[in-house]
Amino acid sequence: MYTPRRFAGVIAGVMAAGLALTACSGNGGSPTESASGTASGSMGTATEVEVFTWWTSGGEKAGLDGLVSVLADKYPNVTFVNGAVAGGAGSAAKDLLQSRLQANDPPDTFQAHAGAELDDYIAAGQVQDISDLYTEFGLTDVFPADLLSLLTVDGAIYSVPANIHRANVVWANPSVLEAAGLDSTATYATMSDWFTALDAVQASGQTALSIATTWTQVQLLETVLISDLGADGYIGLWDGTTDWTGSDVTAALEDFQKLMSYTNTDRDGLDWPDALQMVVDGTAGFNVMGDWAAGELDTQSLTAGTDYIYFPVPGTSGIFDFLSDSFTLPVGAPHPDGAKAWLDVVGSLEGQTAFNIAKGSIPARTDADPSLFNAYQQSAIKDFASDTIVPSLAHGAAAPIAQLNAISDATSKFTSGGSDLATFQTELAASAG
Ligand code: BGC
Repeated sequence: MYTPRRFAGVIAGVMAAGLALTACSGNGGSPTESASGTASGSMGTATEVEVFTWWTSGGEKAGLDGLVSVLADKYPNVTFVNGAVAGGAGSAAKDLLQSRLQANDPPDTFQAHAGAELDDYIAAGQVQDISDLYTEFGLTDVFPADLLSLLTVDGAIYSVPANIHRANVVWANPSVLEAAGLDSTATYATMSDWFTALDAVQASGQTALSIATTWTQVQLLETVLISDLGADGYIGLWDGTTDWTGSDVTAALEDFQKLMSYTNTDRDGLDWPDALQMVVDGTAGFNVMGDWAAGELDTQSLTAGTDYIYFPVPGTSGIFDFLSDSFTLPVGAPHPDGAKAWLDVVGSLEGQTAFNIAKGSIPARTDADPSLFNAYQQSAIKDFASDTIVPSLAHGAAAPIAQLNAISDATSKFTSGGSDLATFQTELAASAG
């Protein structure tokens, strides 16, 4: 399903620190997971597990509930303790998690993005090597080798991936587009084609592009960088081969600035579901959001094609801006057996199916049945198999937490009028440290 070449950029981008690259073959072998319904090993005596995420409502909570129901089936004696902290993309959760880890008060397991973000936790010695669980649960061959290499350092593996999300998706309301005189089946090859459509929606009196608080603006920025620099140019920002001060980056930042001019001014007080809801309610034409939006739209029983449409961010067709939620075993977890039970569920076919159907993402496992998933997800499964994969900035795959924080601060300053474009570009360039 995955080829080393397609993932090579992700790995080059986030593995510059010399992380081990596992053999890139042998995917999709027959699953060998432990028998469902059987609590194996030490998990038989597990009593509880505190699971730390930022999935508190809508499709995100529905996804978490899917995992919890499989936990209840498979480990009826394990009490699920919900440690979730609200705020999209972990905007509040990640800081709180850091304080807890530093105070030696870790949850039993926490959500961490595959790639550079996970590397931070590994480098800080905050998560345990769980390679032996891969053997115990029969997980070694059920995930793409390239994805596993993002979870691995020096041959040790530190988390179990729950899913694959795509960040470069536009969600749009066909009625709003038609009322603006646009063809609702149209897609846009470039940013400048899209600007024409955004002008039309704006002229119709609706918000052309809805957006929310800083992290959603950073996510928009990353998609513009992908669109304008191409996959290789974008990956080069993370492995040092693209110059942040170059004129091609300036042009991308100009496009970002123009896109922001189409957005709602109350953005900084909103989170992603609010901005998506503007599209659902018909007060906005377009929204750029990761495909957790698909899970959210499902909870409202909306139908793709009639109630909403989706397409890759203009100029990014054929590119899959990737991220993966994975679960860890923190050093000092108070209930390690409960955490192992959770990790067993997360990695299992039943767990990945129940979770991803609701979450909008696609399973990380290569043996899930695509027919169980909605129209959007089936398209994502196909695209993931053929597109060029690049790592998401806003969702921990591309850059370490400190660099993402620096980029987020610079972005917020720029979009709230506190800096001009040249300063913004200088601050982005400085973010790499
Ligand atoms: C996570 C997703 C989540 C999204 C919005 C991302 O960082 O990976 O699971 O749905 O943030 O909260």
